[in-house]
This record gives sequence, C-alpha cells and structure tokens, in this order.
Amino acid sequence: MTDISRRKWLQSSLLASSALLISGSANAALDLSKKQITQQNNELIKLNYNENPWGPSKKAREAVIKGLDISNRYPDDLVENLKKKIALKNQTDPRQVFISAGSTEILSLLGQHVGLMKGEILTAWPTFPTIISAGEIAGATTKKVLVDSNERIDLNKLNAEISDKTSLIFLCNPNNPTSTEVDTKALKAFCRAVPSNILLCVDEAYIEYSKNGLAGSMMSLVSELPNLVVIRTFSKAYGLAGLRIGYAISSMGNIEQLQMRHPGREIAAGVAPLSAAIATMEDPEFLRHCVSKNQEGKQIVYDAYQKWGVSHAKSSTSFIYTRHEHFDKDVVSKMKKDGVLITKWNDMKDHIRISIGKPSEMEAFVKKAEKYLV
Ligand SMILES: Cc1ncc(COP(=O)(O)O)c(C=O)c1O
Repeated sequence: MTDISRRKWLQSSLLASSALLISGSANAALDLSKKQITQQNNELIKLNYNENPWGPSKKAREAVIKGLDISNRYPDDLVENLKKKIALKNQTDPRQVFISAGSTEILSLLGQHVGLMKGEILTAWPTFPTIISAGEIAGATTKKVLVDSNERIDLNKLNAEISDKTSLIFLCNPNNPTSTEVDTKALKAFCRAVPSNILLCVDEAYIEYSKNGLAGSMMSLVSELPNLVVIRTFSKAYGLAGLRIGYAISSMGNIEQLQMRHPGREIAAGVAPLSAAIATMEDPEFLRHCVSKNQEGKQIVYDAYQKWGVSHAKSSTSFIYTRHEHFDKDVVSKMKKDGVLITKWNDMKDHIRISIGKPSEMEAFVKKAEKYLV
C-alpha cells in the first residue's frame, strides 16, 4: 500500500468509527464490526502488500513474548545488540548502522532532507515511491528515468541524467514494482561513478529473494563510498512487516545525521520488533524456508502464465509484475470480490502486481485469475 492509500484508509476508518459512535448503539456496532473485520481478513487471500505469509518465525514469536518482561524499560540495550549483529553480518561498524521502525522511516527522512534543501531526486521509474513523495511534499523535484523494455532499471540512461542539480539518486534493487534486478557488477560500477557530493540510496528490501542473494548487495561498497546509504528491512524475507523494523548502513557522518533528524531516535522500534529481529537473524533456516517457499509459489504462477501465454518479467522478489492487458480491465476489483487481493496503481495502469503467498494461495489465485483472462 502506498503512504497515501494508507492515509486514506486511516481517514475513512476514523470517519466510519465516529459515525458509529454518533449512531447510539456504538458498543454493539463496534463489537460486530470488529468480528466482521477479523473474519474478512482471515478469509481474504492477501497478495497485495508483498508480505511474507510464513512469518513471524517461531523464534521471533518466542522472543516477542519474552521481551514483554522488559517492556517497562526503554530498549537501548536491544538497539545496541541488534546493531552489533547487523554490523557483524555486514562486516561493518555498529556505529554505521541506523535502526528504524520500518525502512519507510529512513526513506521518508532522506526524501524530506532533499526536499528541505529544494534538491532533485533522480530515480528509475516505476519504483517504490516513498522517498519521492516524502521529498516532493517537502519541496524536492524528481527526475524519473523509465525502466527498459525488459522492466529493468536502465543504469546507462540514469547515468546520463546525473547533473549539477542532482541531490540524491534512489535505486531499488531488486526493484518494486517491476520485480527485476540489475547486474551486480554493473550496479557497483554505477555506484562508484556517482559524484561523491550526491547522496546515493540503494533500497535492498527484496535482496534476499534475488538471484545472488546477499552477494548482490551494495553493502560492501559502504566503506568505500561515504555518500552511499544502503537500506534493508525485516518486513519481507524475515516476515516481520507488522512489527515494523528496518535499518540503514552508511558512513558514520550520514548515520549521525539520520539519528539527529529522527524524532524517535532509534528506540522508535520498540522492544517487540527489536527482540523479533534479533531472534530472526539467528535463524537462517527460517530465512531459507521463506525464500524457497517463495520460489515454489512463483513457479505456480509462472506455470499458469506459460499455459495462458501471459508474458512476464522474471521476478527477483516476492511478487510478479504482470501486464494488465492479459486480464479483464476490472480484474483487481473482480478478484477482490472473489476474495483475492492483488495490486494496481492509478498512475501505472499498464500493470498489476501479484505478491507471492503460500502455494495453496497461489493455486487459488491461478484458479480465480483464469476466469478473467482476455
Ligand atoms: C522497496 C521497498 N522499500 C521499502 C519498503 C518499506 O518497508 P518497511 O517500512 O515495512 O520496512 C517496502 C514495502 O513494501 C518496499 O517494497
């Protein structure tokens, strides 16, 4: 869900609940609606937010429950503990790690930073829009370079668009929503060629699902490029989207700037998400399970697409980007009525996006989607 649609949802639900309170039988009505919402959510097949259907892991759940015992304390020790773990895994210094309540926070801070200095964001398009919307609200302009005909970020075109005006380059690799990844070597060369006065932000939310996994990460360049910020999240392959925890790795100077600008400092991620993240990092088997099940789910859709003659880019993520033209123009709302949620965008009408759920959910998707082929 984009920030804007989340906000709209919140507004409409607040309006709906105030209407119920005014209507007199508020308690009964609220109880009923609660039940209905739970029922609906259980019945729906949610293939719309790129959530991991396997999480949280057993170890993460246990850690959250154990964390309740220390929830009267601010979680500074847990922040330090998680930073050490992340630093060790990425061969960096804990002081180069910034923890946040979801990577959305970091993207927003960076966008706002560029906006406040009336700078320009250069990015591939389509891509994950948070940094752009946060930047534009604060006064930034955006230059978008369309992905190529294979739905891949075009590094040469992006490179050609770098100018004196560029303040920040945003790259999502693998990219949401197009699902493709760029070649690791080519991306490293691109990063090295970016002038050091331009902030370079690489969002690796789906890197665990990519062809080379973490070997395709730009993390190893952080010690070399002080302008590079690499962003990761525990929301996807680690299955902790609802707990809200993510992080950035960059030069100490950039991390200090993020710490100063973030109103909640790093303890905004509370005891539960911090505990869950620490426990999940110690559970590589769970990660392997999620990545392999994701592959199984994708294959179910690929097989159906092949049978139906639906072309698609090969996904390096936990979702499949599909041309809308293969399906009825109202496929998203019709599938919703059938109990399957998938995504379309108002500003990108050519495509729909199908997140990968459990294999049984993907079988259900295939069965329902077949009705809307054109
Ligand atoms: C590419 C990308 N980056 C960042 C995020 C934000 O993730 P979170 O705030 O849950 O860490 C998402 C969420 O869908 C995403 O797709």
